[in-house]
Amino acid sequence: MRTRMRRLRREPAVRRLVRETRLDVDDLILPVFIAEGRGVVEPVPSMPGVYRYSVDTLSALLQEVVAFGIPGIIVFGVPAAKDARAFGAYAADGVVQRGVAAIKDRYPGLLVITDVCLCAYTDHGHCGLVENGAVLNDPSVELLAETALSHVRAGADMVAPSDMMDGRVGAIRALLDAEGFEEVPVMSYAAKYASAFYGPFRNAAGSAPQFGDRRSYQMDPANALEALREVALDLEEGADIVMVKPALAYLDIIRRVKDTFEVPVAVYNVSGEYALVKAAAQKGWIDERALVLEMLTGMKRAGADIILTYFALDVARWLEEG
Ligand code: PBG
Repeated sequence: MRTRMRRLRREPAVRRLVRETRLDVDDLILPVFIAEGRGVVEPVPSMPGVYRYSVDTLSALLQEVVAFGIPGIIVFGVPAAKDARAFGAYAADGVVQRGVAAIKDRYPGLLVITDVCLCAYTDHGHCGLVENGAVLNDPSVELLAETALSHVRAGADMVAPSDMMDGRVGAIRALLDAEGFEEVPVMSYAAKYASAFYGPFRNAAGSAPQFGDRRSYQMDPANALEALREVALDLEEGADIVMVKPALAYLDIIRRVKDTFEVPVAVYNVSGEYALVKAAAQKGWIDERALVLEMLTGMKRAGADIILTYFALDVARWLEEG
């Protein structure tokens, strides 16, 4: 045999030299849930190791994020009150707005991204306004743009609309520009699928729809070309980073987006993907560390530049340990 593939696999040092994909702490963003109130450190039952914090209890977590050199966090609000018009989403003193201001005050160097959506703030749990059982598009877009603006006014470094209404990236970009925030980037959840993998998150954020489902605005998991159209539109509307979500069942989408558009691609390693790993690890059925590193390496190999993951702190620690 002239070619023996195993020659380059025999020595660890050679394997290191020919390794094509490398996970790095610079790739990571940690999702953080901020709850109303004081002294809150509340475990999320469906996501072992994940907690809801009030602003005053966040410090221990953020200190770790900063110490490990994780570039940023994405903030989700858990408001105390909900209503039909999602008032808390764009209130100047809403849970995210106050949280972001406090975080930026204490950790000015930490990148704070905000998830822009209405679902945690509406009493019906949908990502937009509802009339006669239907989720309205254009009136929702106006409120989403107001929400993004209120986050940026509070100090958010980047906004990430996750609602999947049509035209929201353009509306957000236009409003931010009009208000003098033309330098604030938009990371759009561009190809976001109507996925069963979000179950544990809705438990964490209290954002499950009270009737129906999200299939009239989130994408059909069977579709790939549609994802490319979504990404193209968001880029036309001014998105700076595009996201594919979830990650594991959508690696082909990540690859196609990366090959088609030469822009930074983020992927969301979502709550259900986290919960699956945690449940199996708790039973001793899998090696959590090896599995997580393999999964995230797969996402990067598929073309992801940025990974939003609840494992961010673990991964940062594992990478540091080598
Ligand atoms: C808000 C939002 C969701 C997630 C991120 N932003 C939930 C949803 O669309 O129902 C899911 C994140 C996760 O599952 O980890 N729209």
